[in-house]
Amino acid sequence: MMTNRTFTMIKPDAVENGHIGSILEKITSAGFKILALKKTQLTVADAEAFYSVHSERPFFGELVEFMTRGPIVAAVLEKENAVNDFRVLIGATNPAEAAEGTIRSLYATSMGENAVHGSDSDENAAIESAFHFSGREIF
Ligand code: CMP
Repeated sequence: MMTNRTFTMIKPDAVENGHIGSILEKITSAGFKILALKKTQLTVADAEAFYSVHSERPFFGELVEFMTRGPIVAAVLEKENAVNDFRVLIGATNPAEAAEGTIRSLYATSMGENAVHGSDSDENAAIESAFHFSGREIF
């Protein structure tokens, strides 16, 4: 199914390394419209809830620690075929496998510290957007 919205986070590693502006520029240049945007910091409870699908994975503790160690930038994006097109733009989870020119190939440092999040389905895009934004913050 074609969708027109996805959800992203610029993760703490990319924020720490000063890449917010460059990453937003890549996103808008690729044709995504920013419907909502905020800089915020996840609490441990937030990160555990957001990543609950991974709670049994061996890297869960590391993931929660990483995602809470500093601020993130959360955004709701709009474009035709948003979920799939955004996953192409960010590249593979492991930056070593991410295609040249993708956001992760440019800014990610490891499998865990991979610079950006992108929703993997329409359903999760809606859930993740609602996790961070109220209806009156999305335009
Ligand atoms: P993302 O796909 O945005 O959401 C799940 C995150 O878990 C993923 O990005 C990585 O940050 C992290 N992750 C996935 N696999 C591993 C792994 N093998 N080791 C450490 N972190 C991982």
